[in-house]
Amino acid sequence: MAFVLPGEGDDPVDPELGGTVSVPTTPSRRSVLLGGAAALGLTALGSTQASASADKLTDPFTLGVASGDPYHDSVVLWTRLAQNPLADNGLGGMPDRAYFVEWEIATDEGFRRTVRRGVELARPQSAHSVHVEVEGLRPGSEYFYRFRTQGHISEAGRTRTAPAPGITRTDLTMCFASCSHFGAGHFTAYKRLAEDEPGLILHLGDYQYEYAAGANDVRQVLGPETRTLENYRLRHAQYKTDPDLQLAHATAPWLVVWDDHETENNWADEVPEQPDPNFLERRKNAFQAYYENMPLRRTARPRGIDMQLYRRLQWGGLINFHMLDTRQYRDDQACGDGVKPNCDARLEPTRSITGEEQERWLLDGLRRSRARWDVLGQQVFFSQIDLTPGVNQGYNMDAWDGYKANRDRIAEGLGKTRNGVVLTGDVHRHWAAETKSDYTDPTSRGLATEFVTTSITSGGDGNDDPNAGVLAENPHVKFHKNRRGYIRTKFTADELRADYRILPYVRQPGAEATTAASFVVADRDRSLHPA
Ligand SMILES: [Fe+2]
Repeated sequence: MAFVLPGEGDDPVDPELGGTVSVPTTPSRRSVLLGGAAALGLTALGSTQASASADKLTDPFTLGVASGDPYHDSVVLWTRLAQNPLADNGLGGMPDRAYFVEWEIATDEGFRRTVRRGVELARPQSAHSVHVEVEGLRPGSEYFYRFRTQGHISEAGRTRTAPAPGITRTDLTMCFASCSHFGAGHFTAYKRLAEDEPGLILHLGDYQYEYAAGANDVRQVLGPETRTLENYRLRHAQYKTDPDLQLAHATAPWLVVWDDHETENNWADEVPEQPDPNFLERRKNAFQAYYENMPLRRTARPRGIDMQLYRRLQWGGLINFHMLDTRQYRDDQACGDGVKPNCDARLEPTRSITGEEQERWLLDGLRRSRARWDVLGQQVFFSQIDLTPGVNQGYNMDAWDGYKANRDRIAEGLGKTRNGVVLTGDVHRHWAAETKSDYTDPTSRGLATEFVTTSITSGGDGNDDPNAGVLAENPHVKFHKNRRGYIRTKFTADELRADYRILPYVRQPGAEATTAASFVVADRDRSLHPA
């Protein structure tokens, strides 16, 4: 047992003692300063001992642990206390009071070499979620972490820091996923993804769905369609009880961005899918619950109806991840949304899916980048794709095709980097594509490569439909598969490899994963080669 802070079993009652108290385990000037702060907090713990026994919790770590947004010297640790995770009010059966939660991070799984520890306050106002930004870590290193409160100890999670800035001679196995509808199937794909032991996991949105239980569901989704903060909190809690999802979170740090269903289908900035006078209140509730349940940094803490989610993360000198928010700032979908032929509005130069500010931030980041690989982590299909076989054309107004000028400017920006890569979710199918300067000319310059991951469960088992008509009409699209799964990538200084992992079924648990196809992109090449 490496937890050595006094006060086990005690309860805090003073919410003014909030914030992280972080204590390095090797002496330093900083540790002396922080040690004083810790002592202050722990004195308060001791003073409230009398109230401890009245509210003794059963195991509050039912939602697992997670880590995220790894820097070279820092990572976010997350948990959320819930002794009854499916309580109707979304508050996990927790008493209406704050609890101190101790955390520690070690270089070994047995927690014999703890390098930092501290205390964080879990408040009812934040659904007893805990976000710790641990600093002072070593670059390119593996760590283990866990939490303790009220005599209960959480499962241990594994995390890692990014390599030191500028380091290129390193490699990274990264898996990415999207679209995990709880009712549509079992989360076996998360388990298979975890078994690949990636160093980093990206989730590109539709982490959860707002809908009430559906007639075709294989698992019972609790509660009505999510609109209230209580509903969104309960939905997140139900998802987090899934052991395969917990395993994936505990395996590696996550880098998350949302798509539409964390709030509601196909919302666009302040415009809901269907007219709804209470949409801004709904959006605010969705953002609050999303923040509470994800391993995000303080910079993402919501402010009313706003939340700063787009951000950049450097993986040494190997990769710059530019994580985009394509929902919060977008213009409403052109031509009434859906897949449309002959929609000239989609070509308007001012139409934007990123919003002006995010576009400027992204193009600036691409221009300044010295990374070997510049990777967009984002939601909707980026390259042009005509989805209507035959002479007619059909473009998806919810995807970048509905915001063509905005897309083409960013594609040009990617084309000026050393290696531009786009990662995509949303469409519940695997696809591979080359982003081109001119889609009517298959020999035109490649600007980037795009890897579109299928869903974890959304859409159910899928089938072997080859979608040959679409592939024939879009020669820059190289692969398609309608099965559930995820994409496993390996980045090195010389190449990027992507394995399209699929499961034969998800409506029953336990399917094995296989690789349906693999592609390699060589340094400075910008084209897909079957591996
Ligand atoms: Fe989805």
